[in-house]
Amino acid sequence: MEALKGITILDFTHVQSGPTCTQLLAWFGANVIKIERPGGGDITRSQLRDLDGVDSLYFTMLNHNKKSITLNVKDSSGKQVLEDLIKKSDVFVENFAPGTIERMGYGWEEIQKINPKIILASVKGFGPGPYEECKVYENIAQCAGGAASTTGFLDGPPLVTGAQIGDSGTGLHLALGIVTALFQREKSGRGQRVDVAMQDGVVNLCRVKLRDYQRLKSGPLREYSQYGKGIPFTDTTPRAGNDSGGGQPGWILKCKGWEDDPDAYVYFITQAPVWGKICNVIGKEEWLEDSGYSTPEARLDKLEFIFDTIEEWTKTKSKHEVISICDPLGIPCGPILSMKEIANDESLKATGTIVEVDHPIRGKYTTVGCPIKLSDSKADVKRSPLLGEHNDEILSDILNYDDEKINKIKQSEAMK
Ligand code: COA
Repeated sequence: MEALKGITILDFTHVQSGPTCTQLLAWFGANVIKIERPGGGDITRSQLRDLDGVDSLYFTMLNHNKKSITLNVKDSSGKQVLEDLIKKSDVFVENFAPGTIERMGYGWEEIQKINPKIILASVKGFGPGPYEECKVYENIAQCAGGAASTTGFLDGPPLVTGAQIGDSGTGLHLALGIVTALFQREKSGRGQRVDVAMQDGVVNLCRVKLRDYQRLKSGPLREYSQYGKGIPFTDTTPRAGNDSGGGQPGWILKCKGWEDDPDAYVYFITQAPVWGKICNVIGKEEWLEDSGYSTPEARLDKLEFIFDTIEEWTKTKSKHEVISICDPLGIPCGPILSMKEIANDESLKATGTIVEVDHPIRGKYTTVGCPIKLSDSKADVKRSPLLGEHNDEILSDILNYDDEKINKIKQSEAMK
């Protein structure tokens, strides 16, 4: 049985942050009803389209396993349908701009009056404070959450990362908040608010960078390659290029074919316990006896030279050869994999992390399946809904409206 079977989620989310949250809950078996504006629905249906007139990959890859109902909640019949749905639901999720849900008439006070057991889960860009009214997208969250200032190279501008830590990261945080609130409701019998600000979600993921800011008060960060180059630190965490975030120095190194293949690289970590094996494998046995290299402390001011030397060796091997030599020796390293390699990775396909889905209009496409594996609740990825595909089903099966009522609503402005 699916873990969240029997839980009904009203999914009033759009774009990426909210939809990633409700998609996860749908994978765990919740009945997720996506409410969309009649006409175009979630704006991402028509954004970044690769095929004319077909729901974009942007939309399909974020809205699997959901049902779609079109509803104009500014119309009186639409409001009635929404309120009936709220009475039948466990969770109401939204990620509108600040103040929007209140203007619609469904803020926390109102929604609770309709159903005191409901959980209202919201994503906003910022929590209370000077920016609380701001609209926010992914890269703004990455910048305002501290990630961009610590990403990139020391001599370059701040950089955003390809991983969607602002949107999908916040969706993950929200999903955890929702299941926690559902768990508490088992004992309290009451719903509650779950709020996650995208800035907060990114700050949470930047914990180690806040750690380093505080460590600076005690002196330079000696595991940063900047230290070995003699470049002074300022009073805040610097951009650290490809330095490892932990206490074991690491860097991205070129492999055979790097001149033509932008992804012919490995991430290589000079983990202290396997230093001897690293020296042996790259043919630098003399470093083993040399007091300038034999301890992690001694190596800190020469990391650039050490990695340049290791790279002379990695450049003679493909990235996969480097891994197959280092892995049995316990030397931590990993390949730089392109999206093409990820999409075609047989082991990711075997575990259901990469899946192929068939869509009635688009045809087959590749997407990311559920990355969280529950042994008793298998996540079966089902295609995203067409706009309003489940209008009849929701009105009749969930709300138990009779045919006359259904026809009246469908004729009204609520679904047009
Ligand atoms: N029926 C009637 N009206 C609807 C509706 C429906 N089913 N669905 C949406 N609307 C209306 C809203 O009421 C709102 O109208 P109003 O401003 O007149 O009150 C309007 O559509 C637009 O909604 P909004 O969320 O404000 O969209 P936006 O395009 O202006 O902003 C974001 C988009 C993402 C910037 C904004 O929603 C936001 O900041 N969200 C919070 C942070 C977030 O999640 N960002 C990441 C997105 S990946």
